[in-house]
Amino acid sequence: MAAQIIPCSSSPSSSSSLAFPSEFNLCKPRKCCFSRWVSQVCPRIRTRNHFRIKTSNGHPLNAVSMQGGMDGNPLAKGINPEEQEDFFIYISDGEEAHSTLSITVVGASGDLAKKKIFPALFALYYEDWLPENFVIFGYARTKLTDEELRNTISRTLTCRIDKRANCEDKMEQFLKRCFYHSGEYSSEEHFAELDSKLKEKEAGKRSNRLFYLSIPPNIFVDVVRCASRKASSAKGWTRVIVEKPFGRDSESSAELTRCLKKYLTEEQIFRIDHYLGKELVENLSVLRFSNLVFEPLWSRNYIRNVQFIFSEDFGTEGRGGYFDNYGIIRDIMQNHLLQILALFAMETPVSLDAEDIRNEKVKVLRSMKPLELEDVIIGQYKGHNKGGRTYPGYTDDSTVPSNSITPTFAAAALFINNARWDGVPFLMKAGKALHRKRAEIRVQFRHVPGNLYKRNFGTDLDKATNELVLRVQPDEAIYLKINNKVPGLGMRLDRSDLNLLYRSRYPSEIPDAYERLLLDAIAGERRLFIRSDELDAAWSLFTPLLKELEAKKIAPELYPYGSRGPVGAHYLAAKDNVRWGDLGGDDD
Ligand code: BG6
Repeated sequence: MAAQIIPCSSSPSSSSSLAFPSEFNLCKPRKCCFSRWVSQVCPRIRTRNHFRIKTSNGHPLNAVSMQGGMDGNPLAKGINPEEQEDFFIYISDGEEAHSTLSITVVGASGDLAKKKIFPALFALYYEDWLPENFVIFGYARTKLTDEELRNTISRTLTCRIDKRANCEDKMEQFLKRCFYHSGEYSSEEHFAELDSKLKEKEAGKRSNRLFYLSIPPNIFVDVVRCASRKASSAKGWTRVIVEKPFGRDSESSAELTRCLKKYLTEEQIFRIDHYLGKELVENLSVLRFSNLVFEPLWSRNYIRNVQFIFSEDFGTEGRGGYFDNYGIIRDIMQNHLLQILALFAMETPVSLDAEDIRNEKVKVLRSMKPLELEDVIIGQYKGHNKGGRTYPGYTDDSTVPSNSITPTFAAAALFINNARWDGVPFLMKAGKALHRKRAEIRVQFRHVPGNLYKRNFGTDLDKATNELVLRVQPDEAIYLKINNKVPGLGMRLDRSDLNLLYRSRYPSEIPDAYERLLLDAIAGERRLFIRSDELDAAWSLFTPLLKELEAKKIAPELYPYGSRGPVGAHYLAAKDNVRWGDLGGDDD
């Protein structure tokens, strides 16, 4: 797959900057009257007896039953009588009946669309999160009928485990709302045809249009140009969700942003990083800012180091073509892990508004020292035989050049040069084809000064330090490692976990990250999407390193498929007196 971004000057007739019409009356909930916010920003969603207000930042409330009228309605509480009246007006004027939502999945025949986007849209529909009037269009070059698209996507739709009732019916109803249009990605004519089909379905209503670009980056700009010129909404908002990679380095990323902004305003671009939609990542700020016991500890005074760990127990099978052009640093570290780090380390934002949060994240990124070669080690998995089975090496993949030195593993030590975090190592580790699948954040606290029980721990004080672990996946959990007295006579201590295991505490299934992010994009909530200055700051940290690795052709350390990764990762951590928490042995 071609990986470069095609400069936008090469796109046909770049004359006028026909941007999508900008968003309608965007206002923030705390700044405008409640009912206006509901109807304008949040095209919410009333389904039979339910009227749902969302946002993933908790403004205002999540689901509200309209049965029983306003009296019993938590939304009505705290709203003054005038606003309650507005609320009633909204409910009774049936605005929703006059507007529609059209979602076009561009690249509908691709893997991401089939495995993630259509299932997420169905889950939202199944849970009554989508507005009453919506349609979904698949757009791709493959010639398919509506029926063929429905057959294809129906294979990947699932119902929530705890609510199997009506699943078949719901699926059938959902599929009836799905249509397909086949067209070239750079053909304005084909997008004009899509526009006609959308208009037909929208039937003169005020239409809001969301485009999900599930396509390779080299055609982002073409699609945005065609869609903006020929298929943007005339009467409502138009938004575009873009998936990474957003360039390969600072320059190509800036060029991509420049090209996209010829056709879109920043407010219309929703750069997705699906890790920000994961439940535990979302919970990071809640944990920190709404519990007195954590925030006071959140600094160099108490935290010794922080680790962001991503591992997969499979290789790049089937994705070697894409991956070889990017490598693990661009694929996982520069985005997923760095985004989590920024959320973890940011100062307290003024509010939960998207701009306030993103401002704080940018500040953290800009306070960080760009990575240098000595801060990083890289690895690549090699073939391996185990238990009579052969596991392929990275370069055994037919889509990968046999002499590739693209890293499939990397570990890095980052530092934030601000008052809160000065000197604290933030370690990242990401790898494919390792011994297990896991994503977690580990916070290792300092030793207890003058610990009275020191002699009960032996010589290894590290073993006695507290560690807070947020296991993002699988099997979501938050646990705190503490020292505890083993019950009985005598004084033996051991390390135990205060454990919040999600599957025990919250039995209902956790929504997929794409559900949350799609819902936010529909609602115009940008908090979990990457702003262009965040993206620039993220690339600035990694670009010099990536260029040097490539210019000097640094060879990765080989590690066997299914192992714990290259030993170099231990040396890297040891330079900063850190031990990887996931390899401690007492963790599983
Ligand atoms: C993607 C990467 O962004 O995230 C993949 O491109 C990786 O290489 C994937 O496998 C991991 O996502 P998740 O949600 O399965 O952990």
